Amino acid sequence: MKPVSSPFGQPLDRVDGPLKVTGQAHYAAEFDLPGLLYGSVVNSSIARGRIVNIDASAAEAVPGVALVLTHQNRPPVASYDEPYEDDDAADGSPFRPLFNDRILYSGQPVALVVADNLELARYAGSLLKVEYAAEPHRTDLLSELETMHKAPAELPPPRGDADSALHSAPVKLHLEYTTPVEHHNPMEPHASTVHYLPEGNLEIYDKTQGVQNCMRYLEEVFGMKGKIRILSPFVGGAFGSGLRPQYQLPLAVMAALKLKRSVRVALKRQQMFTFGYRPRTVQRLSIGAASNGQLQALTHQAIGQTSSFEDFTEHEVEWSGMLYQCPNVTLDYQLVPLDVYTPLDMRAPGATIGVYALECAMDELAYAANVDPLALRLLNYSERNENEDKPYSSKALRECYEQGAERFGWSRRSMAPRSMRDGNQLIGWGMATGVWEAMQMPASAKACMEPDGRLVVSSATADIGTGTYTVMTQIAAAAMGLPMDRVEFRLGDSSLSQAPLEGGSATVSSVGSAVQQACDGLRQKILDAAQQSPVSPFTGAKLDDVEFVDGQMRLKASPARSVDIEDVVAVSGVLEAEVSVKPGEKRNDYSTATHSAVFIEVRVDETLGTVKVSRAVSAVAAGRVVNPKTAGNQIVGGVVWGIGQALHEETMIDHNLGRYMNHNLSEYHVPVNADIGEIDVIFVEEKDEIVNALGSKGVGEIGIVGVGAAVANAIFHATGKRVRDLPITLDKLL
Ligand code: MOS
Repeated sequence: MKPVSSPFGQPLDRVDGPLKVTGQAHYAAEFDLPGLLYGSVVNSSIARGRIVNIDASAAEAVPGVALVLTHQNRPPVASYDEPYEDDDAADGSPFRPLFNDRILYSGQPVALVVADNLELARYAGSLLKVEYAAEPHRTDLLSELETMHKAPAELPPPRGDADSALHSAPVKLHLEYTTPVEHHNPMEPHASTVHYLPEGNLEIYDKTQGVQNCMRYLEEVFGMKGKIRILSPFVGGAFGSGLRPQYQLPLAVMAALKLKRSVRVALKRQQMFTFGYRPRTVQRLSIGAASNGQLQALTHQAIGQTSSFEDFTEHEVEWSGMLYQCPNVTLDYQLVPLDVYTPLDMRAPGATIGVYALECAMDELAYAANVDPLALRLLNYSERNENEDKPYSSKALRECYEQGAERFGWSRRSMAPRSMRDGNQLIGWGMATGVWEAMQMPASAKACMEPDGRLVVSSATADIGTGTYTVMTQIAAAAMGLPMDRVEFRLGDSSLSQAPLEGGSATVSSVGSAVQQACDGLRQKILDAAQQSPVSPFTGAKLDDVEFVDGQMRLKASPARSVDIEDVVAVSGVLEAEVSVKPGEKRNDYSTATHSAVFIEVRVDETLGTVKVSRAVSAVAAGRVVNPKTAGNQIVGGVVWGIGQALHEETMIDHNLGRYMNHNLSEYHVPVNADIGEIDVIFVEEKDEIVNALGSKGVGEIGIVGVGAAVANAIFHATGKRVRDLPITLDKLL
C-alpha cells in the first residue's frame, strides 16, 4: 500500500459527488415503492377564518382517486389536543395540519387528495370546492407595530446606562432598517415517501435536516413509538427549511395509515412558500460615540413578525452587544403576531438580519466620525464577549481584517462617496464584519472495522449539501490512518447513533467530535484484539505506544513491528466502538464564535441604477478547517446569498389577500451567475484547543453574515445614498 498523508485539512472532492452527478443519489421523492399512491395538497385561499364546507364529490368521482383527506375524515391523531413540540419548535403551539376548521394563514393545507398518480391527484384537487367564512386578517408588520410584545428570548441584561450615554455623546445616530420576508427555496422541494409495511410500521424517505427529530415527532404525534424509521440519505439543500418536520410529512402519514398503503406527498415550488421563512423585521439602532468614533452607547431593538400560534425567536440583537467594545448597551426584541405561518431558522438565523443592521450602522458611524470603516472596527475591537463577560476560546478577527483588506486592496480606497468611477459606472468599496456562534451539541457515532478491512462510521446526521459525508470520512480516515476509499460514512437514517439536527454550523463540532472519539475507541479495540495473539509484537503496549498509519498499527518506538489492521480484523471478526460526546466542560469559561471580514466592490450604473457586485473577499476565522474545498463552497454560497439578500430577495405579500404573490423562482429573485463577480475566500489560521478536540468551529452559516451590510455600504460609497430597506433594488437608487 502506498503511504497516505492524513486527509484532515485536505481540499478533497466530495465523496458523494459522483453519485449526485450521475443520478444515483436518490432524494425523498425519488424512491419507488410497489403500489405507491400520490398525494397533492390543497391550500387555503384565505388568510384567516374557517372552513364552512368542503365538497369533495367531484374530486372523489375521478377514477383513480383513492382519498380526499380533510379535517373531517382524517385518522385520529394522538397528540393533537396537546401539540408536540419538535426539536426546533418555537414557543407556543405548533401548527397541526388538518386539525380543525380554523384557517390560520393563507396557504394552510386544507386537504390532501390521494390518487394513483400525481397528475390525477392534482387534477382532482382542482375540483375540490372549499367554502370559507373569511375574517379580517392582519399580515402587514409595518401597520401592526403597536401590537408588538416582548419576544420570549433571554437577552443579555442592559449594561451601563445607554440612554444617558447616548444623550451626552458627541456623535449620535438614530437609524432604522427594514428587511423583508425571504424563503429558503432549496433546489429540492419538501417531500415524504411513506412506505407502509405489513405490520403497520412506517419507513419514510423524508427531506429533513433531522431524521431523529422527524421520527420522534411522528412517534409522539401519532402515538407510534418504535414503529417509525426515517431515511434521508440525500438532501437537495435545506438552509434551515428542513429543521422542523413540515406538513407534507404528517399528511403523508395520515393518508398511509388511513389507506394502509404507501403514499408520497411532494410539495410543488409554490407550496415551498406555505411554511417557514426568514421573518420581516424593523430594526432601530441608536449609536453614541466619541468624536473619534469610539463607541459610548448602543441600543438595538428588533421587531420581527411571527404567527398567531407561535413566537418565533432567533438571535437578532445579541451581536450588537458582543461584536464591539461598548460600556453602555441596551438590547430589545419584540414580536408582532400576524395571520401568517411561523418564521423558521434560515441560514445564520438572526445574524443575517441583525448583523446587517449593526454593520450598516457602523458604516454610518464611520462617515459621521470621518474615520475609515475598517479603522473604526479596529478602534472598537472587542477581545471579550461583553454580553457574557467571557474571553473568546479564540478570535482571529483581527487577522481576518488584515488579510481580507490586503487581498482586496482596501488601503487604496478613497473615503468620500462618489469618488471612484469608471466611465458611467460609480464604483463603491464597502466592508462589514460577520459573526456566528460556534456551538456544539451532544452527539454519538459508531465506528465499525469490517472483516474486509473497511471502516464504516455512522451517525444519524444529515448532509444537506454541505459536505458531511466527505468531512466525516476525512475525520475518520485521519483518525484511523486509513485511505479515504477504505472508509464509508453513513447518515440520514433515524436508526443510527443519536445525532442533533444538522444546523447551526454545529455538525463538524458535534458529530465530527463523536466520529473522532468513536475512532479513538476503535483503535483501542484493535490494539486489544492484536494483543490476543501469543506472538503479538504489541504485548504490554498501551494505545499511546502505537500509531495507525497507512492501514497498519505499529509501535512508535519501533515502527518495523507492525500489523495490517485488515489482518487483525480477519482474525477477530468485526470490531466496533460507539461513543456519545457532550460539549467539553472547558467551553464553559469561554465564548465561542466564528468571525469574518467581508470586502465588497460594487459597480452602479449611474443612469440605470443597476448594481453589480464585481468583487468580494471574505476572510473567515473558524478554527481548523477539515476540508478547505467543501468549507470554501459554503462561504462562496453564503457570499452569493448575502448578495441576494442585499439586492434581490424579497417575498412579496398582497396584504389585501394576505398571500405571497411571487411564490415561484421566476419572480422570487435570487442571484444568477451573471450577477456574481469574483469571490475570494480566505481561511485565516485560528488555533483553538477549547472549542472541541478537533479545533474546528463549523462554517455553514458564517459565509452569509455581514455580506448584506458590506454590499449596502459599498453602494453608499458608490452613490452617496443610504438605502436602509432591503433589498436595494434599482428603484430605490434612482
Ligand atoms: Mo442552518 S438555519 O440549518 O442553515
